[in-house]
Amino acid sequence: MSASRQWRYRMFLGLMIVYMATACIVACALLWTTVTQYKVENISDTTENQFLVPICGIKKDLYSDPHMNCDLLDHLSYEKFVANGWTKIVYSAKLNNQPIAIKTVNLKGKDITDCAKTKSILLCHNRAAEKLVKEINLLKELKHETIIQMKHYCAKTSEDNLCMKYAVIATELGDPLTNLKLLQMTWDQRRKIIQDLANLVNYAQHSPVGVLGLADLRRPQFVLINGNMKLTDLDDIIVGEPRCVTNADCSSTVFYLT
Ligand SMILES: Nc1ncnc2c1ncn2[C@@H]1O[C@H](COP(=O)(O)OP(=O)(O)O)[C@@H](O)[C@H]1O
Ligand SMILES: [Mg+2]
Repeated sequence: MSASRQWRYRMFLGLMIVYMATACIVACALLWTTVTQYKVENISDTTENQFLVPICGIKKDLYSDPHMNCDLLDHLSYEKFVANGWTKIVYSAKLNNQPIAIKTVNLKGKDITDCAKTKSILLCHNRAAEKLVKEINLLKELKHETIIQMKHYCAKTSEDNLCMKYAVIATELGDPLTNLKLLQMTWDQRRKIIQDLANLVNYAQHSPVGVLGLADLRRPQFVLINGNMKLTDLDDIIVGEPRCVTNADCSSTVFYLT
């Protein structure tokens, strides 16, 4: 082989090696960015990865409950967003042509987003779902004209924190009680709101599960249904008389709605 042909051959070989090395680096960089993009922060790869975690099963004792109906709720199509709070989100839907409210965990709510800054998404989600379960358990017991009526629910919570808890409540649909609605009310309508509130406080004192502490009694926890005001957010209710831990707890004047 002549010297010039040998030189051209070496140049070609060198360029091929550089070309292949560059292609390898680019391919590796692309692969790395794809992998890191899908990596879920703060969640370990084994048990807590939300994409691998199964949804919890249904507790056996709920099978015989007539209000428990996961099949029905899983196949309902939510029509539109109604309102949300820190923990829960509410949509409207139709069931047998009747409007209903569907309440479930608010994945983008303050409760979950604040919690997820320091804890795993799964744990935060499960805590929010547990609040819905508490609300379900209270709605089963508390039947009153000033408390929203539950029609169906679905609760899947049987396992420990290795599975994702799931809870949905279907209730009668109301209108969120806004400041504007209150301002537009006639005096008669306002008097009715005060009567409903007094009625609720009275019921809280004599409820079938005992005295209820209405710990978060605020306007956004109520809805209006045919001019009646009904409590819809029950997850902060304290059941039973508050207990004194220290002497000071019982001697100071504490305003408590019981
Ligand atoms: N049955 C319902 N019909 C219409 N709106 C509702 C109903 N239940 C709740 N809402 C609205 O959804 C909002 C969030 O529900 P809520 O139970 O208060 O969640 P959170 O615990 O996050 O505060 C409420 O402020 C209320 O305006
Ligand atoms: Mg609320």
